[in-house]
Amino acid sequence: MNISINNPIIAGNWKLHKTIPEALDLVKDIKKAASEVEKAELIVIPPFTALAPVRDVLEDSKIHVGAQNVYWEEKGAYTGEVSPSMLMDAGCRFVVIGHSERRQYFGETNETVNRKIKSALPHGLAAIMCIGETQEERESEKTTEKINRQLEEGLEGLTAGDLENVIIAYEPIWAIGTGLTATPEQAEEVHAFIREFLVQNYGNDIASCAIILYGGSVKPANTYDLLAQKNINGALVGGASLDAESFIQIAKQGLKAYEEKK
Ligand code: PGA
Repeated sequence: MNISINNPIIAGNWKLHKTIPEALDLVKDIKKAASEVEKAELIVIPPFTALAPVRDVLEDSKIHVGAQNVYWEEKGAYTGEVSPSMLMDAGCRFVVIGHSERRQYFGETNETVNRKIKSALPHGLAAIMCIGETQEERESEKTTEKINRQLEEGLEGLTAGDLENVIIAYEPIWAIGTGLTATPEQAEEVHAFIREFLVQNYGNDIASCAIILYGGSVKPANTYDLLAQKNINGALVGGASLDAESFIQIAKQGLKAYEEKK
């Protein structure tokens, strides 16, 4: 994956939003403003239908394109699914796997997440694996237990080399789309736990370069404090990524936080 942990990584998950003309308007605005945040690594994650048109607009830019989901089979009678090579063909180099909405509404499990990652990586896709606890799990102090299980089962069988192409996105479910954000301290605590899991399982070299994103009601006003945390390498942004101005503002705040961290 050709992005570096030395710069903030800001990924915009557009979810079920944007027709092709709307997606083109948004991505053109992002592209225009991206020169203001040149050092940030931007990833746009449109719905499947807009992937290739968005890729065409970004061909001469360093903004990356990702998809929101993938299936593990290469081809066959799997109506409605999209394969890793189809995503590569559409210009994606990233794919979100196991977003909590996929787990909640579409029955995805740690096992399916693991299968999807294992099928995506050999095609050259980098996986953005999403994990996170519910409000109830947090209140009953089961956060680290849940995160540990999602990491163990989601990454099961992957090698240290594979991990170079896996981004972890910590997204507390109670913070997604709710306007509630984990405090920087709450987020950092889990990010440090994830980093330590990677140290224990894949060694220091892999763990220290691993990208761990925070997601859940990220907006310009809370980005600086979150990304100033040691183990937070960027943001996976939903709602606030649907507007070019707020997406770029988030990248600006990320860059500011990185200046402080250096
Ligand atoms: P949100 O979504 O920023 O709208 O809370 C984040 C996500 O689901 O990735």
